[in-house]
Amino acid sequence: MNILVTGGAGYIGSHTCVALQEAGYSVIVADNLCNSKAETLEQVKQITNKEVTFYQIDVTDEVAVETIFSKHQLDGVIHFAGLKAVSESVEKPLAYYYNNIVSTMVLSKACQKYGVKRFVFSSSATVYGENKAPFVETMTLLPTTNPYGETKAISERILTDIAKVNPGWSVTLLRYFNPVGAHESGLIGETPSGIPNNLMPYITQVAKGKLDKLRVFGNDYPTVDGTGIRDYIHVRDLAEGHVAVLDNLTDGVNIYNLGTSQGISVLQLIRTFEEANGIDVPYEIVARRPGDLAECYADASKAERELGWTAKRNLVDMCRDAWRFESRMMLKRRKNSDSKPSKSNTRPEIGKENMPLYDCEE
Ligand code: NAD
Ligand code: WQD
Repeated sequence: MNILVTGGAGYIGSHTCVALQEAGYSVIVADNLCNSKAETLEQVKQITNKEVTFYQIDVTDEVAVETIFSKHQLDGVIHFAGLKAVSESVEKPLAYYYNNIVSTMVLSKACQKYGVKRFVFSSSATVYGENKAPFVETMTLLPTTNPYGETKAISERILTDIAKVNPGWSVTLLRYFNPVGAHESGLIGETPSGIPNNLMPYITQVAKGKLDKLRVFGNDYPTVDGTGIRDYIHVRDLAEGHVAVLDNLTDGVNIYNLGTSQGISVLQLIRTFEEANGIDVPYEIVARRPGDLAECYADASKAERELGWTAKRNLVDMCRDAWRFESRMMLKRRKNSDSKPSKSNTRPEIGKENMPLYDCEE
């Protein structure tokens, strides 16, 4: 089966390309590389030993999208392409509404025209707003506090309405919780540009000495240790969730939470990272970050019941794999610049003895 993966050069998309290819699907990627590099697709190829067909296009561009639909006999679309920084969406609402909503409309229009009936959409736990965790798919969605979240809720509604009038369509709305980690090869992972907003990439930057210390946003929440609770899920498990969806499609609209159903605090994540990798992560407690929830975690039992999917990897795997990827990136940058390690990089690198990197020469 041929699957069009929009945003396939990105963090979750690239891991999903690997999972799809490993499961026997053929992958066609459409990505404008606004937050990724084409090189990532080379790494995907290196992992799977299979070709990825790549189009560098913007998926809001109707003509460019139709070119792909007319060239390939597509069996389905997984739509990852989108802008995803919550705080940036507050500063640039129009860019977010345009990119994230128009792309959904352009792709679904092409699906209608070319008779492609399977559409999987990357939504987010953020659509639950201030509901009380654990979040269940049947909950009424509450307003989110930012345009990013609204683009997800609106895209969900658009796809639901389109599915209603298109018999035989299968629309799957996947609400991701907090994806972290990387492929165990260390070849693909998360590469945020600038100072990261999300916790795990921030931790790895502190671990490698690029940033001084982590700021923990609040320790006065009504949680186990006062810090925020989230449902961290290994990106490889998340990617495999997409394969489970394609393997178990039913007509109509289906919504699934992809999480672990387990809440982890910020301090628990820091400690696990330190223990798993033998590295200190200095931190200080600062004020709460505006807009943060105390608790956000899934009830992921529907995906288990209906798709036979559950997250298999644990928090230690997530921390190890995130650091393995970051360490490999460090080595690669050093090799490329052929320079001495900077003074700030004095912490031990990922335990070379117990965590061998893949022998890859780019
Ligand atoms: P990412 O930024 O790594 O990947 C998104 C990819 O889409 C990038 O490669 C980018 O270049 C591409 N892209 C963006 N706009 C495009 C456009 N108009 N045309 C073509 N390509 C475009 O992000 P990610 O973390 O892999 O997220 C993938 C999807 O999952 C996004 O829709 C995101 O909103 C959603 N999501 C992510 C998270 C998370 O924490 N990472 C959580 C919930 C939902
Ligand atoms: C996790 C926890 C912070 C950074 C965001 C989006 C959500 C989804 C995933 C796309 C919270 C704390 C964080 C730091 C900290 N993305 N934290 N210091 O906020 O759960 O979700 O990413 O859909 O829509 O909102 O993830 O990783 O930013 O925060 O203490 O430097 O870590 O307060 O408790 P979040 P996060």
